Amino acid sequence: MAPKRIVVLISGSGSNLQAILDQTLEGQINGKIAAVISNRPDAYGLTRAEQAGVDARLLDHKQFADRESFDAALVELIDSYQPDLVVLAGFMRILTPELVRHYHGRLFNIHPSLLPKYKGLNTHQRAIEAGDDAHGCTVHFVTEELDGGPLIVQAQVSVTPDDDAASLQQRVHQLEHQIYPLAVQWFCEDRLSLSDAGVELDGELLASSGYQYTTR
Ligand code: GRF
Repeated sequence: MAPKRIVVLISGSGSNLQAILDQTLEGQINGKIAAVISNRPDAYGLTRAEQAGVDARLLDHKQFADRESFDAALVELIDSYQPDLVVLAGFMRILTPELVRHYHGRLFNIHPSLLPKYKGLNTHQRAIEAGDDAHGCTVHFVTEELDGGPLIVQAQVSVTPDDDAASLQQRVHQLEHQIYPLAVQWFCEDRLSLSDAGVELDGELLASSGYQYTTR
């Protein structure tokens, strides 16, 4: 099976990018990151890409008059790399429906909550304030609804009475670095797809909460 081509979009530190990059370089993922694109010039993820010899591209949204023109330029830049898969890894932009539809079935996002709970921002603080015993992260296919697409894989952490948003974020982040490369790995082995019925892994339809990842 030919290695898949992956484009990763970032706005910040890029620790999820690093986790996926490491697994492509180590051969656990049957794919290659063709480019990393940031909308912010100061994103450390651009440096991570350069250090790994991957094309690091800046497309600054501030240079565009509106969301539509930025997203149109973004699609053009992404498509110049002919990706099989586009991975949002801390890309802090709301996407136009046109962009989302263009990458239907090949656009992933990771969100730091057990979706469908806590779409949007400040997820760790919201889980604590709600008194939840469990929190976590989710990889999902992106659709037009913000943080709302079909779920691929979820990992949970227990919330302890001592937790604050920072401690919870740190534990959730570690799990993100496990489940995001895993979802990419499945996709690159042609094991994962999005159909009208939902998300299929190895030919079986997943539950709406996605594959439940447990650490061994
Ligand atoms: C992660 O918490 C992810 O869930 C969210 O943005 C953050 C990106 O972190 N979508 P990093 O840049 O990968 O370190």
